[in-house]
Amino acid sequence: MSLHRLTSVCIGVPNVAETASYYEDFGLTRLADNRFATVDGGEQLRLVASPRRRLVELGIGVADPDDLDSVAARFTAVGVTFEQTPEMVVAIDPGTGVRVVLSIADPVDASPAPVTGAQNAPGRIERLTARAEAIERDNPVRPRKLGHVVVGSTDLEASERFFIKGVGFKVSDSIADAASFLRCSTDHHNLLVQAAPVPFLHHTSWQVEDVDEIGRGATALLNKDPARHVWGLGRHHIGSNFFWYLKDPAGNFSEYYADMDCIVDDQLWRPEVWSDIRALYSWGPPVPGAFLAPDDLVELMAAAHNP
Ligand SMILES: [Fe+2]
Repeated sequence: MSLHRLTSVCIGVPNVAETASYYEDFGLTRLADNRFATVDGGEQLRLVASPRRRLVELGIGVADPDDLDSVAARFTAVGVTFEQTPEMVVAIDPGTGVRVVLSIADPVDASPAPVTGAQNAPGRIERLTARAEAIERDNPVRPRKLGHVVVGSTDLEASERFFIKGVGFKVSDSIADAASFLRCSTDHHNLLVQAAPVPFLHHTSWQVEDVDEIGRGATALLNKDPARHVWGLGRHHIGSNFFWYLKDPAGNFSEYYADMDCIVDDQLWRPEVWSDIRALYSWGPPVPGAFLAPDDLVELMAAAHNP
């Protein structure tokens, strides 16, 4: 695949220092200048000052210079204005307002998975006379990589054209007339674009090893501030991942996820259009209203109309 991963996100927030502390608590490694790294993905988050919260930039990695030429050719074909240098192609999606930067990047080199230990199940007792490995963990949770980003678009059709026909994302699944789950790697989705009354960042999602790391990470964050809770623990139907969503001090949601579907053979995957509750989840607590329409949505709409 010429596109092969998300490289980074740049998020604009009005309260950079406070939000930076949150992402440190979330388990990202703080670098200089409000930049943050994951274990496997390197530098993947940058916070910048902005009057209101928003996704400023989305970085996508490609394999080589020919891939940049291919992206440029596709943008030309669909009438998208872009800038190209030997290192990158840059364009702005009209529906989300996000600056998309495609650059040549190394693949994420996943360090080995931890030994999770044997599990017990009915008729399959693997862990004999011993406590579970997961309950012995006491190290802080450290996300492995940035997995996906969800953004609201005021022009879903234009955004889909931009990201699918222009950038080159593939469609993994969709929600009728509402959203598309798109991938630029073997992960089920790296980008979800959803119809919205205002462009906004819904959430960023960060991969951890397993469901225990989701629980441990969320518990640590909530022990510091229970108001950070948004929705979880649960399991999505689309993408199959376990999830727990929390909220940063600017109002952006951040998700710990584990065990997402991986699409390694495009020919064998059948995208589906979902229109029932499975569009949201397979199991978990009831979906909170604030997950569907964040509390500050009206405020963001007002600001968009009176910038
Ligand atoms: Fe997500």
